[in-house]
Amino acid sequence: MSSFSADEGKNRVREAADIVQVIGEVVELKKAGSSFMGRCPFHGEKTPSFSVHPQRQFFHCFGCGESGDVFSFMMKYHNFSFPDALQELATRFRVDLPKPELSEEDKKRLRQRELIYKANEVAAEIYHAYLLNNREGEGAMAYLAERGVPQWAIESFQLGYAPAPEGNNWRFLADALARKGVTEKTALEAGLVVSKQRGGVYDKFRDRIMFPIRDMSGKVVAFGGRILGDGKPKYMNSPETPVFDKSRLLYGLHMNKDSVRQAKRAVVVEGYFDLLMLSVHGVKNVVAPLGTSLTKKHVHSLRGYCDEVVLFFDGDSAGLRAAMRSVPIFLAEQVNARVALLPDGHDPDSMVREQGTEAVEKLVSDGAPLAEFLFDALVKKYGMTLEGKSHIIGELSNLIKSGTESVQRSLMVSHFSEKLGVKQSHFQAGEPPPALPVPQEDPVFIMEDRGRKPIKLSRKQRQLLDFLILYPEFFVELQAAGCEVVLRGHEAEDIINCMKELDTGGNLTPELLVNSLGNAGARDYVAKLLMEESAFSSPESGEEWARGMCDELIEWLKSFLQTQSSKELQEQIAEAQRRGDTALLMELLKRKQEMRKIVICRTTC
Ligand code: UTP
Ligand code: MN
Repeated sequence: MSSFSADEGKNRVREAADIVQVIGEVVELKKAGSSFMGRCPFHGEKTPSFSVHPQRQFFHCFGCGESGDVFSFMMKYHNFSFPDALQELATRFRVDLPKPELSEEDKKRLRQRELIYKANEVAAEIYHAYLLNNREGEGAMAYLAERGVPQWAIESFQLGYAPAPEGNNWRFLADALARKGVTEKTALEAGLVVSKQRGGVYDKFRDRIMFPIRDMSGKVVAFGGRILGDGKPKYMNSPETPVFDKSRLLYGLHMNKDSVRQAKRAVVVEGYFDLLMLSVHGVKNVVAPLGTSLTKKHVHSLRGYCDEVVLFFDGDSAGLRAAMRSVPIFLAEQVNARVALLPDGHDPDSMVREQGTEAVEKLVSDGAPLAEFLFDALVKKYGMTLEGKSHIIGELSNLIKSGTESVQRSLMVSHFSEKLGVKQSHFQAGEPPPALPVPQEDPVFIMEDRGRKPIKLSRKQRQLLDFLILYPEFFVELQAAGCEVVLRGHEAEDIINCMKELDTGGNLTPELLVNSLGNAGARDYVAKLLMEESAFSSPESGEEWARGMCDELIEWLKSFLQTQSSKELQEQIAEAQRRGDTALLMELLKRKQEMRKIVICRTTC
């Protein structure tokens, strides 16, 4: 075995591995110039926007923003951990790796994890076999049959039954695990048994239908157990363990990831049984959180698989609260979300059993966008009277405060203030003014804005943005001329903010910009611009050309801002007239006259 550092091992593998070959095994790639294009494996799409660059050894999807090197591809697509991806590629491309130097502690932790996995796997087999083969499991089988679960589903979900042998001090699994060589210590660490006060252990799950929960590599990491009768609690989950993180893992995602990819949509339900029964009836793009509400990590893990998430919840107030809590999460993760509410008294399980697959599919497809849904629900609750509006503003303000980045915040503020017909300042003091309306003249370019409506940039706005990115030496000058006001909102704002930060550190270059942008949409935009043969990099684009272009843009900015403020003034005048505020009206008219003078002066002198 050769001796070199782990970093060097990584570099050697990266050099030896052919990223086009690795990705080409799962994505059909076509050569396009110096790179290769194909249909992105991380989100559904018809038109190829996934590119692979053999020289630079990276991939990038302009559709969903996934990007990375050959290791991240193995991790994201094949769900390898980094060490596994490294090992796999090293083997495939014949690179000798140095033996990883794990500390004693790391080794111990790794061994412990392996043991917990093993204990869970064995427990799943024990519960499953007990359900299928043991007479004591017959009650559970009858229960499943009554709820309409067919034999094939019992097998593919590896459902099981945990008995409650009172004669044996609740030690069914505890003994069965011991017989299979799982120690009491490991069973405890896996959360499968519980310590007694006076020593010894007993089974955690008793008289329950068992749902094994698998992580993304397919290993059993936990269980959900439903009580057979009416006992409490109805559902019980494994505790968090070194291999089980409730706030990250979604039930069903491992099994259903291909369906989610195909449908480009994940349906989120609340319960194990809901997911099971939808699957039985052919709706397979479904996941469920594990007895918690949806977290940012859950949504993040769905991002790689679909374009949108549909919350398929009860129409009761708990369902509403859950939807409400998830708004900032979806905004922050830039994932489209819709809400499909179930008819009163139904859950997805009862709905699909009584009304069939088509009715469910229709309900899911007709779900309202999350923001609209939320707004309508609040209007229904409080009404649109003055008092009602102020309650609505109160609830929305909390929500907006609790979430997200400034871009999303101002987006929401402008969205909701418009719907309520109130000033934005009602929402939050000190908020930056929201995006200016995009001028209606020739909106030729659409900036893809994942998770939200695409935004339109006029030809001029785009020219300004592109110029700033490619010629950052003019940034300060254009900033002084007000470029921020024109480019406010969405990704453009992130780009400007990032430029500001880099500029402060004296590090503003296009390359650093693309590497520093956190926002995927913005990164896409800049990366694409830099990779394209852009209009700006033609032979004529020397220093002189850039100077001229900058002057032209400054002129345009001036007149645009002018028009904008006179429009605003006009609106204020109309408002003052409506309210009969004569004093204000006079003041505004005076201002308007002054403004006209400036315009005339500018065009004539
Ligand atoms: P429900 O009570 O709506 O479950 O709880 P359900 O799936 O419809 O139950 P049945 O089997 O059809 O009667 C929804 C989810 O909330 C969590 C579970 O994840 C459950 O699937 N939950 C519920 C718990 O964690 N503990 C409980 O005691 C109840
Ligand atoms: Mn139910």
